[in-house]
This record gives sequence, structure tokens and C-alpha cells, in this order.
Amino acid sequence: TEQAAKPGLLQGKKVVVTSGGTIERIDPVRYITNDSSGKMGFAIAEAAREMGATVHLIHGHTDALPPAGIDAEAVQSADDMYQAVLKHWQDCDLVIKAAAVADYRPAETASSKIKKKGDTMTLELVKTVDILEQLGKSKTNQFLIGFAAETHNVEAFAKDKLVRKNCDLIVANDVTAEGAGFRSDTNIVQVYDAEGLVEQMPVMSKDEVARRLLTIAAVRMNGAG
Ligand code: CTP
Ligand code: CA
Repeated sequence: TEQAAKPGLLQGKKVVVTSGGTIERIDPVRYITNDSSGKMGFAIAEAAREMGATVHLIHGHTDALPPAGIDAEAVQSADDMYQAVLKHWQDCDLVIKAAAVADYRPAETASSKIKKKGDTMTLELVKTVDILEQLGKSKTNQFLIGFAAETHNVEAFAKDKLVRKNCDLIVANDVTAEGAGFRSDTNIVQVYDAEGLVEQMPVMSKDEVARRLLTIAAVRMNGAG
């Protein structure tokens, strides 16, 4: 059964949502990205607004346009996304990092199109900034929610990310499961906190996942649970 968003649970809260995949440039006509559609983050942004929050959405490459009426900012690279988030970090109450941030980017971005030469070509990649980890390190009163997209050992990897990145909640999903993952309109997630499993959600629409997730966060932020 669809649960309606609870109006007002996030009233007066400033919420930042990141979604989509980052784009890491190789040259002016080529880039590295990933399969993120942006749908989960968009659903979260909409649900947060329905619950009364002021929402700022920072998105990379997505399959669709961001939801109408949401204050949305398009960015490309992991570094761009980090700078955009930092601008809102100090005075926001809740950050949800649904974006699929590239882990590596080309060591150099060529300023003109790279020409075809030999039979093989090697692209050197360097690690990007881990936005969530940086936020976790500089957290004051913000409530921080991360995502863990996994194909195996879902629980162990998700719990490790929760601790390593100092998140308040982590949303784990097995992206290989039927009805879950990047391009799907539905998802199957488990929410963990430092104590363990908070909620195991059966397959449901990403809109419904968003409402349930934000309800858990709001109750904790408001100190009522
Ligand atoms: N994340 C981030 N910056 C990065 C990489 C990831 O902010 N450079 C965030 C994602 O937005 C997500 C969480 O960290 O909320 C977990 O991302 P994930 O890719 O699952 O984990 P990684 O730590 O990158 O580990 P791995 O890809 O090896 O599983
Ligand atoms: Ca990653």
C-alpha cells in the first residue's frame, strides 16, 4: 500500500540531494560516466519537498529532467559536485548522497580531441574526491545519508561505508536484484545505522522508498524516535 508523504515532517529543514552520475572528461568529445539514471535522487528531492523541506538538488548526468519546481543545479564532475555541495553544507540540515560519483577520473583532460594513433591506448586514471567521506569528516549538526550500490556482500560493504564515511544512515541496494537498481522505477533497499538494520524494504516504487527513508530521517532529526 502506498504511504502518503507526511506533510510537515521536514518543515523548516534545508535538504541537499545529489543524484545522477558524474561525468569525467577525457577530451572535449569523450567522457567516463556510469549507469545512474538519477531517478532515486529525484524521488527523494520530491518527497522532501512534499514533507515541507527547502530542497536543493545537485545532479550529474541523468536519464530524465529533474522534477519540475525543484531548485536544481546541474554539474559534471565529482569535483564540480563536491564544490556545489560545499556551498550548501554549512547551513543545511540533511544531505542525501544518492549520486553515483565516479571513483576515478582521467589524470588529464585533453583540451582538444585526442587523435587515433597506435593499436592500443592507455588512459591513466586518478582517484576522485570522496564527497561523502569529506562531509562525514566535517559534519557538525547535519544528518548524513549515504547510498551503497552493491552487487555482492551487500550488508558487509554497506556497513563498512556507513562507518568509514561517518553517515547517520546508509541505504544499501543490490543493484543486480530484479526490481532494483539504476534504471528501474522500483527499488529494494535496506537501511542501516551504526546499530544495524533499521528497515528492510520490500520491492516498491522509488517514490515510496524516498518517503519511507525521509520519514526515518525526519523522526531521528526531530529527536522523536
Ligand atoms: N561517494 C561520494 N564520492 C565518491 C564516491 C562515492 O560521495 N567519490 C558516495 C556515493 O554518493 C554514495 C556512497 O559514497 O552515497 C557510496 O558510494 P559507492 O560507490 O557505493 O562506494 P565507494 O566508497 O565508492 O566504494 P566502491 O565503489 O568501491 O564500492
Ligand atoms: Ca564507487
